[in-house]
Amino acid sequence: MALIPTAQKGVVMKLSATLSALVLAFTTFTCQAADPIVIKFSHVVAPDTPKGRAADHFKKLAEERTRGRVKVEVYPNSQLYKDREEMEALQIGAVQMLAPSLAKFGPLGVRSFELFDLPYIFPNKETLYRVMDGDIGRKLFSLLDPKGITGLAFWDNGFKQMSANRPLHSVEDFKGLKLRIQSSKVLEAQMKALGANPQVMAFSEVYSALQQGVVDGTENPMSNLYTQKMHEVQRHLTISDHGYLGYAVIVNKKFWDDLPNDVRAILNKAMEETTVFERNIAQKDNDDALAKVRAAGTTHIYVLPFKDRVVWQQTMLSVHKEFEEKIGRDMIQAVYLTAAEVEREKASQPNAPARKTKPGPVKP
Ligand code: SIN
Repeated sequence: MALIPTAQKGVVMKLSATLSALVLAFTTFTCQAADPIVIKFSHVVAPDTPKGRAADHFKKLAEERTRGRVKVEVYPNSQLYKDREEMEALQIGAVQMLAPSLAKFGPLGVRSFELFDLPYIFPNKETLYRVMDGDIGRKLFSLLDPKGITGLAFWDNGFKQMSANRPLHSVEDFKGLKLRIQSSKVLEAQMKALGANPQVMAFSEVYSALQQGVVDGTENPMSNLYTQKMHEVQRHLTISDHGYLGYAVIVNKKFWDDLPNDVRAILNKAMEETTVFERNIAQKDNDDALAKVRAAGTTHIYVLPFKDRVVWQQTMLSVHKEFEEKIGRDMIQAVYLTAAEVEREKASQPNAPARKTKPGPVKP
């Protein structure tokens, strides 16, 4: 340094300061690029279902919009965890995001989610979305807070159909059948009301249980039934729309709260848009799945006539009353009232079609 003329010393010092700043900026950049925030999103269904496609859609939006600051790793088909395990994994932070079906929150100690499992409670999707997006949805999410979980969105799948290796036309056909259900007390009561024996089982185990005769039948929306190839091992399917299956997208609360504010805002927006996307594809995915099962020719498809739906509904109605206390009478009543409100609005539309919708829900 002593040999450098004084005039040049200033230049050298400036250069070295610039160099240090560049090195610091580069290091920061590479650290950021090398260490994105990772969201492990685990789920149990196939990628080509409404939930599977929405998970991939969210990944795309989240990664693009955070410019790589967030990396979403989607693990479909119970690759990481089965039903019950994934809830535990979320709570301990082994995964950050899930979208379990609404029937799987009971074991967490929040039985009110089983509202969605009540047979024939939602006569249409309008009623369903109003319930999900209104006070009831908000109340349900608030119940998750003390469990260390934050609810982000409700996703749709669809109404459930019944399958078995014998025709399921009348209620009597259910007598003695072993039917796989999700871990919901309401679903247990529903199957008992039909005279069947409910068997709780993880989703990933259903195909082989049906194949080996461990259970005789099951219920699910068509997209799940088809993508798990259940139609290969079920000779009969009844389009009964007797119940509903949807999802709550949930995250580990601490992880979510600790995110930088700008990242959380981007992810919230991405989730909002993904929810619109998901609800738009759900019905078509189920319609396509039904068409594919029909084309496969392995399963006889029976569409339950309106008059018989009424009988099925009457048979299962006792379940609503039975669960008033566990779910909350106010919540159940609120769904009835919402359904009635939707019905009134539809009827008051000019050119409203003559009313012959599916039965349900019961009268408030
Ligand atoms: C799911 O859609 O996530 C699985 C539903 C089931 O367990 O039947």
